[in-house]
Amino acid sequence: MSLSVDSVDIIKKIKSCKTLQEVEVIRLEYLGKKGFIPSEMKLLGKLPIDQKKIKGQELNKLKNIIEDTVNDQKILIENKDLEKKLKHESVDITLPHNEEVTGKIHPISQTIFSIIEIFGNLNYTVEAGPDIESDFNNFSALNIPLHHPAREMQDTFYVNNNGQDNVLRTHTSPVQVRTMLKSKPPIKIIVPGRTYRSDSDSTHTPMFHQVEGLVVNKDATMADLKSTLILFLKEFFEIDNLKYRFRPSYFPFTEPSAEMDVAYTKKNNVLKIGEGDDWLEILGCGMVNPKVLENCNIDSTAYQGFAFGMGIERLSMLKYGITDMRGLFDLNVKWLDHYGFSPLDLKTRSEI
Ligand code: PHE
Repeated sequence: MSLSVDSVDIIKKIKSCKTLQEVEVIRLEYLGKKGFIPSEMKLLGKLPIDQKKIKGQELNKLKNIIEDTVNDQKILIENKDLEKKLKHESVDITLPHNEEVTGKIHPISQTIFSIIEIFGNLNYTVEAGPDIESDFNNFSALNIPLHHPAREMQDTFYVNNNGQDNVLRTHTSPVQVRTMLKSKPPIKIIVPGRTYRSDSDSTHTPMFHQVEGLVVNKDATMADLKSTLILFLKEFFEIDNLKYRFRPSYFPFTEPSAEMDVAYTKKNNVLKIGEGDDWLEILGCGMVNPKVLENCNIDSTAYQGFAFGMGIERLSMLKYGITDMRGLFDLNVKWLDHYGFSPLDLKTRSEI
């Protein structure tokens, strides 16, 4: 006793299908409600018991074979379709790009990329924090208590949120606090980000960018801080001879504190960084004040660290010869065309 159909033929038929619809037609023909298998199953009842058993087994076997072959063929067709679609959608990257439609990378973004690259090579990791900060993170934890005159050093934007004292962060230093509160030393981070102060003229915009650096371990020294900053500036400005000086300064969150100046000359309105008799202030830095470590639950008898903060606009303007800081945020396409960077030929120093 055998079936009136041949499984080999059916498999062949299914495997020759090119579309999902074709497969579906065959599936219905054999497995659909009124298809071959269900119809044959219905007839089983009329057969004598010994034949019923054999035919039933054969029908079930055939049903499984058809189901498996249909599923395999569907997957095959779907994969082929996907492959075709991907081929069709692929972009020919050998085509020359059209300058007019690619847009430009903003000098601030470009500067941030360079900073991350240089510090990344020194094994720093990048941290971030929110623009709206608590008074604690922006001031108190950094040893700037309420009514401390240092609060007047920065013209703060206050954000009153249901009586909670929040501020638009006036510097990236609150991310020092956030990082120390959430992780244990050794810590080695940089924090590029937006900062806000109520100030606006050719060298100040109410929103600007800083990059913070923080190293906390058992033996960080002022000498490590200095060599790190010197190395960074040489790499950033791509100069081998850098004339610089460290001036004593004051920040409540570092002790001792310093500001770093680099020498420059201005000839025919062109600025040359690294030599000359004029000085430009470039950053603030110092050894992390032990009080700040304690405020962040770090044992100041076991750990020490250094920190620095630089203005990203200042670095960009010096490197790329931009004279008015407000141009950076005017959203002027012509300006960006002139000062921006093509996304397709960004060169890092290691490639030059
Ligand atoms: N947060 C300081 C500022 O905005 C800069 C700074 C950072 C100084 C870290 C010392 C250490 O002026």
